[in-house]
Amino acid sequence: MAGRVIAIDGPAASGKSTVARSVASAVGFLFVSSGHFYRALAWGTVVEGIPDEKLNDWVTESPLTVEDKENTISLLLDGKDATPHLSDPEVAAKVSQIATFPCMRDFVNSRLHALAEERDLVMEGRDIGSVVFPATPWKFYLDASPEERARRRARQGDEDPIAERDRLDSTRVTAPLVIPEGSIVIDTTHLSLEQVVDAVIARLGNIEPLNP
Ligand code: DC
Repeated sequence: MAGRVIAIDGPAASGKSTVARSVASAVGFLFVSSGHFYRALAWGTVVEGIPDEKLNDWVTESPLTVEDKENTISLLLDGKDATPHLSDPEVAAKVSQIATFPCMRDFVNSRLHALAEERDLVMEGRDIGSVVFPATPWKFYLDASPEERARRRARQGDEDPIAERDRLDSTRVTAPLVIPEGSIVIDTTHLSLEQVVDAVIARLGNIEPLNP
């Protein structure tokens, strides 16, 4: 990897996205949600009605393209922007199951690695510090109590089976959600966004963008 990667992992609704976005803007790195890649693929399988046994063939044809424009990543599925669909209830219901397939994980990881060849990144997900970029020196694991995480999701108004997603994400065979070795664990249950962002930035040391 040519660029640097700040890896932020954790379970659903632990605050990863919001924190990662704020840290990215503070240090001038590109924010990347790896969950968005799995969600875009899940959306594709829903709209195109792809059965599990055809996933390998489907993903081999590279249905998803990544656009990196104006410091924002857009995911296009056969040319259509997946962004408005990433929180659709059918996507939330299917994404963790889609993410258990090694062919899907290989596809996403190759795109994440390609991004890191070009840019400094703050990337959030489930396996960024453990599997995708295990060599990065900046690894964080955010957690919060299940009750607080359920409250946060409810406040966003999203229909999201987070307990079931947590179960699938933590028990799958390939790249399960774990606390990556060497990561800094932050319990965000009683912390404000600002406090978590400050805690992360305080642990980065003197990090300056390579590609401002
Ligand atoms: O972060 P998120 O809730 O948008 O992620 C959606 C799903 O994608 C999550 O339940 C599991 C999967 N995922 C994954 O398996 N590995 C990642 N690095 C990121 C997400």
